Amino acid sequence: MDLLYEKILRPYFFTKDAETAHDYALNALRLLDAVPFLPQIMERYHLRPRHSQRVRLFGLDFPNAVGLAAGFDKNALAWPAAGALGFGHVEIGTITLHEQPGNEKPRVFRYPKYEAAVNRYGFPNAGAEKIARRLAAAPGKGKRSFPLGINIGKSKVTPLDEAHLDYVGSFRLLADYADFMVVNISSPNTPGLRELQGRDYLVDLLKALQVENQDRAQRLDTAPLPFLLKIAPDLNFTQLDDILRIVEESGFNGIVATNTTISRPDYLADAERTGGLSGRPLLEKSLGIVRYLARESKGRLPIIGSGGICQVEDAGRFMDEGASMVQIYTGMVYRGPFFPARVARALAWHQRDWA
Ligand SMILES: Cc1cc2nc3c(=O)[nH]c(=O)nc-3n(C[C@H](O)[C@H](O)[C@H](O)COP(=O)(O)O)c2cc1C
Repeated sequence: MDLLYEKILRPYFFTKDAETAHDYALNALRLLDAVPFLPQIMERYHLRPRHSQRVRLFGLDFPNAVGLAAGFDKNALAWPAAGALGFGHVEIGTITLHEQPGNEKPRVFRYPKYEAAVNRYGFPNAGAEKIARRLAAAPGKGKRSFPLGINIGKSKVTPLDEAHLDYVGSFRLLADYADFMVVNISSPNTPGLRELQGRDYLVDLLKALQVENQDRAQRLDTAPLPFLLKIAPDLNFTQLDDILRIVEESGFNGIVATNTTISRPDYLADAERTGGLSGRPLLEKSLGIVRYLARESKGRLPIIGSGGICQVEDAGRFMDEGASMVQIYTGMVYRGPFFPARVARALAWHQRDWA
């Protein structure tokens, strides 16, 4: 099946520009969603992991340790079918409070020789209200075979000083549909967004979200939603120390490390300068961040590792460095739709307790 992708489907997809190819893939996934008993059929032909290591994290039960990273399903159109491919969770978004078109096209670029991509999408999405309506018509909490994460970001029109209002507004509209929330302050494609990773902004933003989260929990007599923070790979150790302290003090439940990088290795010096680099060249950088976070938090804080997983061994390295789960995006573009299932199987092996 991997060969089918590498020899036939990938060459075909790669004749299209990267955004068109992505839209085809998203539509294919939507079609799959209409096939009855698809997960069972996929299992029957060993295309989806049947026995994988379940992961219990921030009060949620994950069928395996491999998730679909944010950005693939920005508008919550295709996520139910991702389970059929073997993902143990899906993070949809980034969703902003206001509907917005994103940056001008072209805005995604592939570098096949290096299994890399650069994107500067700028959060094109239908906005929190419309997407909430879409989610209301999809399988709800408790009726899904895997947890759904919702990733929220700042609308481009909202000034930085009012960012917290934007995030809180999205949270209010989307919380009823999320198993966990991810706060994205690390995309390089919304002007100023990454400044929210600085101390002053971050304390206020996380506090505002947790106040809202606690209020909602009290009102509905339910547990607060788990909240994770998604960070950039371009932070220095002092900034990471600040983030760790703020995350723990604010009662956030974990970190997604990492988003794309604004740096370029020498061999990609000619690549698009504006945008975030993902895929293989990101791997060592993201691993370094996970290593530091796991060590400094003494393993207390769950970390989801993301960045450059293009081989099953790469996922194992994230777990070795202290990640509790991993996420994949660019690796699936190069390895195909059955890659996540292979990684999930390999991690189950990795985690097996022989004692
Ligand atoms: C085309 C593209 C779009 C992305 N859009 C988002 C996004 O909207 N929000 C977000 O938090 N991360 C986004 N990401 C980052 C991924 O979620 C992931 O963290 C990053 O690409 C590193 O993983 P990878 O090397 O496996 O792709 C995007 C990545 C790509 C390649």
